[in-house]
Amino acid sequence: MTNKNYKRYTVTSALPYANGPLHIGHLAGAYLPADIFVRHLRLQKKDVVYVCGSDEHGAAITIKAKKEGTTPQAIIDQYHHQIKKSFEDFGIAFDIYHRTSAPIHHDLSKEFFLNLYEKGEFIEKFSDQYFDEEFQQFLADRYIIGTCPNCGNDNAYGDQCEKCGTSLSPTELVNPRSTLSGNKPILKPTKHWYLPLDKYQPWLEEWLLEGKKDSWKTNVYGQCSSWLKQGLQPRSMTRDLDWGIDVPLMEAEGKKLYVWLDAPIGYISATKQWAIDNDKDWQLYWKKQENEADNSCLIHFIGKDNIVFHCITFPSILNAHGDYILPENVPANEFLNLEGDKLSTSRNHAVWLHEYLEEFPNKQDELRYVLTSIMPETSDSEFTWKDYQARVNNELVAIFGNFVNRVMILMHKYFDGKVLGGEKLKDETLATHIETAYADIDKYLTDYKFRNAIASLMDVARLGNKYLTEKEPWKTFKENPEETREVLQNCLHIIAHLTILSQAFLPHSSKKLATMLNIAVADKSYNEVIVFSDGHQLNPASLLFEKVEDEQVERQLAKLAVKKEEAKAANSPALVPAKANISFDDFASLDIRTGKILTAEKVAKTKKLLKLTVDTGLDQRTVVSGIAEFFAPESIVGQQVSILINLEPREIKGILSQGMILMAENSDGKLTFVAPKEEFGVGSVVR
Ligand code: 2FM
Ligand code: ZN
Repeated sequence: MTNKNYKRYTVTSALPYANGPLHIGHLAGAYLPADIFVRHLRLQKKDVVYVCGSDEHGAAITIKAKKEGTTPQAIIDQYHHQIKKSFEDFGIAFDIYHRTSAPIHHDLSKEFFLNLYEKGEFIEKFSDQYFDEEFQQFLADRYIIGTCPNCGNDNAYGDQCEKCGTSLSPTELVNPRSTLSGNKPILKPTKHWYLPLDKYQPWLEEWLLEGKKDSWKTNVYGQCSSWLKQGLQPRSMTRDLDWGIDVPLMEAEGKKLYVWLDAPIGYISATKQWAIDNDKDWQLYWKKQENEADNSCLIHFIGKDNIVFHCITFPSILNAHGDYILPENVPANEFLNLEGDKLSTSRNHAVWLHEYLEEFPNKQDELRYVLTSIMPETSDSEFTWKDYQARVNNELVAIFGNFVNRVMILMHKYFDGKVLGGEKLKDETLATHIETAYADIDKYLTDYKFRNAIASLMDVARLGNKYLTEKEPWKTFKENPEETREVLQNCLHIIAHLTILSQAFLPHSSKKLATMLNIAVADKSYNEVIVFSDGHQLNPASLLFEKVEDEQVERQLAKLAVKKEEAKAANSPALVPAKANISFDDFASLDIRTGKILTAEKVAKTKKLLKLTVDTGLDQRTVVSGIAEFFAPESIVGQQVSILINLEPREIKGILSQGMILMAENSDGKLTFVAPKEEFGVGSVVR
């Protein structure tokens, strides 16, 4: 899809918040695909810089510090180093892993803000914002939660609903509450600087809707076009917080830049730092060049919850600035689930990267292989330990490892591990297959199809394994040792190709292969064919991959079960803090009735919404409810419900919703109807 032949590439992976360790979902979402992509470009000898770093501002950090009774500085220092180490351990080959607390980043973020300010881009506005009286703090972003007006998620943040991805303002939340005190906040006026996304809408429609239709992944393009259809609103780029980058204006004393303004600028400041350290020119990778053909190709790898910020907000900022290139592509991945459930930091339902390595030392490539094979490229996907075991045992061990091991052992047995030089692959069919694999891998990676690409790599190993099994060189040795040698040398050449091809996907195994072949393979490009010199001595065979035993799988499953129990105990009985008292009159003003669902159907193009017709006794009305993930429409026709009938009607996805169905949600996120047990009739008052 990146079909233009670029001279230079600027590749980024989302800056993780330095507020916790990394898990397999992070790796599969934004880091592994970018790492493979970048390694592939480097193997083609392309000029590429790959940057990342810790995102160290915003409520994600301060809330964590408060929870742990420590300072934000202590939190970012602890997790920055832990995260950096996990990336190194798994071979994620950034050119730099930077951090947004660095002065160079603060300076650049302020420079960006002032550039837009001086151009008069911001709307300066006093408005009423939510304020927690108990904590004497304005509430934005993760400091406030409430019900998402788009999908009904009860725990949407003040700037974004992570369930449906919609970007929000705190005042759009239904039933907002402070995450500090649990109280209902009051409104208080404060001044902020807003980015006029509504003004940029026509430009975004042209650049994104028209320009990216054919090149962006459908999951990314679809989300963007639905936001643009709804119409963009101005977004505040400043916050009333005491942790973050100071707003560089006298009149904004005590205010900070919005974390989603500074974080993506972190890609640029990281590149600047890398350029200083390596005597390079950062502007070549970020600024528009005199000749458009010399512009770098900017690609952001992210998870789907970051789409709005990378496809709408950041490009708008770059465009408003004027000097910068825009992303060529944003190949966002969907989410990875674990054993049938969402990965969750708060419920400790995760496979943490540092814990994985404690249990499976030196097995980075096994995880890289499995995560690439199941990468959530077009829809959410699922990691299970059984599947991990099956893929490692049946593919890496039984095909790839087995092939290499058999060839190495036979070469030592028959020829003392000595290779006859000057030869290439002496089998047309094999050679053609391998040539095709190089082309396929390039095509797939260019299209961000990582699953297909790694399958093509495995096909090369499969080809070798099959060839060896069919030729049975151990049977010919006595009668015809030349034939045995030819077959084994052909196999060695296949291993040499596997060594080169696996550099992008399985870098640790590629090194092991190079050691076995006794060749230097660091930074070998795709164009360098490995030719053995005459009498080249192979090293002894060593195991490339090891079988995963049933006990290991069982131990991991048991570990998850323990974590689940612990989290349940810690979170029970309720996850949501108690709300502030209300008056009896407030309660009495709710008109809740028993009702019955007459019809139910899915709302087109949504995952979570059902359109219901409900008999309330007084009338039959339409209600849009966010329960589609839990109930099939046909299964709830005839269901008795409790329905709040005097909730102000709201338009959701173009449908006027007149009321709310009462549901209970347990700590596992399961929903159930709050309704009479026996047949009760419709229209009865619930009080
Ligand atoms: O969602 C997150 O984890 C954010 N810290 C990602 C930031 S990406 C970039 F813009 F810096
Ligand atoms: Zn939502």
